[in-house]
Amino acid sequence: MKKIATFLMACGLMHAHYSNAQDIVVQVHKPQAVIQPNMWGVFFEDINLAADGGLYAELVKNRSFEFNAPMMGWKELKKEGSSAASLVVNRSAVDDNNPRFIRVKINDEKDAYGLQNEGFRGMGIHQGEQYNFSVWANASAGKNMRLRLELINEQGKEIGNASLSLDGNKWKKYAVSFPSNATAEKAKLNVWIEGTGTLDLDMISLFPQHTWKERPGGLRADLVQLLADLKPGFIRFPGGCIVEGKELVNRYQWKKTVGNVEDRKLIINRWNNEFAHRSTPDYFQSFGLGFFEYFQLAEDIGARPLPILNCGMACQFNSAEVVAVEEIDPYIQDALDLIEFANGGTESKWGKLRADMGHPAPFNLQMMGVGNEQWGSQYVERYKLFAKAIKQKYPSIQLVNSVGPFPDGDLFNFLNDTLRSLHADILDEHYYRSPEWFLQQAKRYDSYDRNGPSIFAGEYAAHTKLTDEAIKKNNWQSALAEAAFMTGLERNADVVKMASYAPLFAHAEGWQWAPDLIWFNNLKSYGTPDYYVQKLYTNNVGTRVVPALMNNAVIGGADSLYASASINENSHELIIKIANVSAVKKTKNIVADGLKKLPKEISVTMLASDNVAGVNSFDQPENIKPAQVTVVPSKNLIPLKMKPYSFYVLRMKM
Ligand code: AHR
Repeated sequence: MKKIATFLMACGLMHAHYSNAQDIVVQVHKPQAVIQPNMWGVFFEDINLAADGGLYAELVKNRSFEFNAPMMGWKELKKEGSSAASLVVNRSAVDDNNPRFIRVKINDEKDAYGLQNEGFRGMGIHQGEQYNFSVWANASAGKNMRLRLELINEQGKEIGNASLSLDGNKWKKYAVSFPSNATAEKAKLNVWIEGTGTLDLDMISLFPQHTWKERPGGLRADLVQLLADLKPGFIRFPGGCIVEGKELVNRYQWKKTVGNVEDRKLIINRWNNEFAHRSTPDYFQSFGLGFFEYFQLAEDIGARPLPILNCGMACQFNSAEVVAVEEIDPYIQDALDLIEFANGGTESKWGKLRADMGHPAPFNLQMMGVGNEQWGSQYVERYKLFAKAIKQKYPSIQLVNSVGPFPDGDLFNFLNDTLRSLHADILDEHYYRSPEWFLQQAKRYDSYDRNGPSIFAGEYAAHTKLTDEAIKKNNWQSALAEAAFMTGLERNADVVKMASYAPLFAHAEGWQWAPDLIWFNNLKSYGTPDYYVQKLYTNNVGTRVVPALMNNAVIGGADSLYASASINENSHELIIKIANVSAVKKTKNIVADGLKKLPKEISVTMLASDNVAGVNSFDQPENIKPAQVTVVPSKNLIPLKMKPYSFYVLRMKM
């Protein structure tokens, strides 16, 4: 307390400005809850082609022929009458992780044979960029074998090419890099095989050379940039229901996602056939984006890693299969080993793997989720075993626990009560509800137990009814409701320690779930209005909550206004967030009670649109985006003129 008092004095804070009951009074001199610096984060799940076909920049779909239908995504190219042919061979006895490859047999030098890959809804190719092709090949039973590569655009015109000579060696990796001379959103790759005899091919891959941090085989730079711009406090991965799998056999197992990419065993993506109306039969998980890459991504964007692990339960909306309690040890061991992978010394088994993959320094894992949207006593039974083992070996690791898929009702109440009685660390609440619900719930956490577990608003999004068109669901109505609701999260930062909008990414032609924070196609990406709301929170974080009051009460809907305020003790700033969710403009005087002197001018960030159905799009990616306005204080008052449907962030030096 003494420290705060000294700080306030140093900032020249004092009491007693006269104000009108209708004014917004920010009590700068009454710092309250500490705001976690990592409070606002992001939720990543491989849904909507977020990983393969999205963030993971691989352009070839089904590069190692491991999809259920081995030739899915591929087409044979051959001349009429040609006797050249191919065969998918399975060698699971010697390589169970990557069992299949393709064997091409050409009898006559004139019978060129090709394989065409369609990419993920086509391949996004940019003019002037360099592309890295690689392949594993065994040409030992061929003569003069070579590959001729062609990138073709939508009209079949060649926009890039390269050649590769294959020597007679057994399995070997070959690579070549070549430029593209045109842009195409839906290019295809032709791999022509020339020579005679038999050629075996596997892991046929094409990446843009330009990736995030220019890492070979890396992530799509524009998508990571959007994340980096958010400056998220944490990144939750890999989901979501993907953690659970529809059945246990297809649960997410982190150990199968690390090491050489060739050895990461592909499985189906649970969103492949989850929704009949959005069936995505070509949705699998290659795990090119695996747990090492997730940790690296977290580090790159300055976010704390928050892995969520399977707790021995498959999705309860699907099979609801659980592992027998007597057989849960391997699941718990996975959790313990993950901590070693992230934090262990390089002499430890899993720490060594991390080092071998290029990261000897620890990833500083501090928290981990046990299960995703689980419910019932079967969860409690399994969670207890996880908690006991993890806390025993790693007492400082904070555990995130499920309170089910809904924010209320029997499932929620049971786990909420039970986990509180077990003194759980962090409860993970999920809500996909209407914008109206979000507004009504702005005071949700005002009455939560201050001494109970912390809350992680782990998945939330306002689902509008203004449109049925998926890509238009991220409209201003939903974003503004979230902005208003989030003032309630910030006000209750002593209880709500973390929050993340969900889901994060959606491919415009490959989505299963909407709304989503960021939409992309093969060439472009944009942040939705919801993205900009998140950004205004992540980029304007205080260190302590201060009261923001109207008529001496918190501002959580009165007069259609929602507000929160904080001070940042490091930058010596006061930060005020206010949403006006009404259709009329409002003028409010803000009194910074305790602030001796106001700046001459205050730069205010405004996010507003008079069209609640307004959206951003590929053509108008910044239709709704933050704008700067200046407010000139008058004496000790800040007169804020708010537009209809608007959200303001005021930031001023103290
Ligand atoms: O975010 C999409 C899905 O919603 C998540 O996978 C799941 O946890 C929730 O039901």
